[in-house]
Amino acid sequence: MGASSSLRIADTRRKARAHGRSYSHEFLSRVCYSFSFNDTRAPAMSRLRIFDENDPATPEFASFDPDFIAAELFRIGVTFERWKATRPLAPGASPEEVMAAYQDDIDRLVAERGFKSVDVVSIAPDHPQREAMRAKFLDEHYHKEDEVRFFVAGSGLFTLHVKGKVYEVECMQDDLIAVPDSTLHWFDMGDEPSFIAIRFFTEPDGWIGHFTGEDIAKRFPRYHGPTQPTTTG
Ligand SMILES: [Fe+2]
Repeated sequence: MGASSSLRIADTRRKARAHGRSYSHEFLSRVCYSFSFNDTRAPAMSRLRIFDENDPATPEFASFDPDFIAAELFRIGVTFERWKATRPLAPGASPEEVMAAYQDDIDRLVAERGFKSVDVVSIAPDHPQREAMRAKFLDEHYHKEDEVRFFVAGSGLFTLHVKGKVYEVECMQDDLIAVPDSTLHWFDMGDEPSFIAIRFFTEPDGWIGHFTGEDIAKRFPRYHGPTQPTTTG
């Protein structure tokens, strides 16, 4: 398998790799983000906000910096890495197309991490089942295995509930996130969902969610599409 066909790890690993699990040790490369704050075409970027669980209106921490995001999430055992999706695909591409485009990378991760199954969620804003698909993940739940996702395209909002804090992670194309088993969380793809995510499972049956019955997810922000950076925060 050549490096040219692989997902390449971006610079966030340089800080995060000393601390925790890593999903590859190859193909280190740097992804640079440059934009003007006056440029309305500035690209949307991954963002982390941290709240007290009782105060959804006031983030205690907010950052668009992938290094800071990775470092803060590492504190709660979550792996966050910026990779490079090397084969552009549009949300709505068939799972077969996505699997074929990334087969080498999928095979490598399965071999490295012992995943038992892999699938693809690919959804465009006009998907006829978008409301039902969104609703499936909106309430607080956990899994008995790590939740591992690579965003091939688009974006979505992962929110984690850990030790009295709520970590809102806006995941964008090129993000890899691995949430440890038993971590309470929810996921919002928004009312006009647009993303492709490859999902990796260590259980052969794929996605199994255990819902807590709590309503905390309803009190925190829902997703309304990519956030444009407006400050250096
Ligand atoms: Fe989940």
